Amino acid sequence: MTKQAVIFSLSVLLVFLFHCITTKAQPAAAPAKPADAPTQPASPPAPPAKAPAQPAEIPVQTGPTDVTKILKKAGGYSVFIRLLKSTGVAGQLFGQLNDSSIGFTIFAPTDSAFSNLKAGTLNSLSDLQKTQLIQFHILNTVVTLTNFQTLSNPVPTEAGDVSNNEFPLNITTAGNQVNISTGLVNTTVGGTVYSDDQLAIYQVSKVLLPLDIFAPKPKVAAAPVSSKPKTNEDAAESPSGASKVDEAAAVRVCRHEMLAFIGVAAVAFFVMKGT
Ligand SMILES: *[C@@H]1O[C@H](CO)[C@@H](O)[C@H](O)[C@H]1NC(C)=O
Ligand SMILES: *[C@@H]1O[C@H](CO)[C@@H](O)[C@H](O)[C@H]1NC(C)=O
Ligand SMILES: *[C@@H]1O[C@H](CO)[C@@H](O)[C@H](O)[C@H]1NC(C)=O
Ligand SMILES: *[C@@H]1O[C@H](CO)[C@@H](O)[C@H](O)[C@H]1NC(C)=O
Repeated sequence: MTKQAVIFSLSVLLVFLFHCITTKAQPAAAPAKPADAPTQPASPPAPPAKAPAQPAEIPVQTGPTDVTKILKKAGGYSVFIRLLKSTGVAGQLFGQLNDSSIGFTIFAPTDSAFSNLKAGTLNSLSDLQKTQLIQFHILNTVVTLTNFQTLSNPVPTEAGDVSNNEFPLNITTAGNQVNISTGLVNTTVGGTVYSDDQLAIYQVSKVLLPLDIFAPKPKVAAAPVSSKPKTNEDAAESPSGASKVDEAAAVRVCRHEMLAFIGVAAVAFFVMKGT
């Protein structure tokens, strides 16, 4: 009888100690979750930004020059068309070509150009990089075949600010031949797919891979990072300080409850012993 009572009260204590230990451990993990939550609402607003770009494509079919229609008619550019659409660049071109003072030159890679890329090349890109890749194939002026020789290198593209050394594209000519170099890819401009006073589309047999995406320059910002860990430590310290306070409170609560339980167990023990 007494043995049972002792075992009973000991097991109650053990269960309770476990309870204390687990509740003590929880406060440390809990503060991490609230930090994640605020970051999530930030990403959902992104998709709505894309949506407005596309409706522009649907309403007016008779107005501005439609690049994707031209490419579709020419045939053999289905991957480029898909990317023009999915990145929203097609919609932007369509809207801007409505303004007769704006012109573009597009280097359209063929489907076989895309299929010659290393497997997974496109899938490895973020949405922004896909957009930049497509914009890298577009110059914001109309360049006729005979005018390429007038360009000075690096030639600006829609992808980035060449004056900042971003997305450089070099074009060299010799006779009728127009060569394009990205630093990663050399190719020669193929046939003319389309040409009017606002738009020129040329075939290229290679996808123009920009250095900025496929061979990023080593970040010069590496040095400042070494001074930053201090702020990381500061940030790391305050949460642990907070959890220490939580722990102390939890321990105090546990002690109170434990005393009560020991009392109850002792009473139970003596009651059992008495009978
Ligand atoms: C093109 O411009 C005209 C007149 O400025 C405007 O009415 C029309 O909605 C525009 N179309 C597109 C597709 O932007
Ligand atoms: C263009 O590229 C071809 C083949 O790569 C090369 O033979 C030719 O010399 C290049 N021309 C110019 C002007 O760079
Ligand atoms: C492009 O041309 C510029 C100026 O001529 C030159 O400095 C640069 O190295 C060239 N880049 C490539 C990738 O050919
Ligand atoms: C591109 O052509 C230049 C010379 O015009 C050459 O130095 C370079 O190695 C070529 N790059 C590739 C990837 O073929």
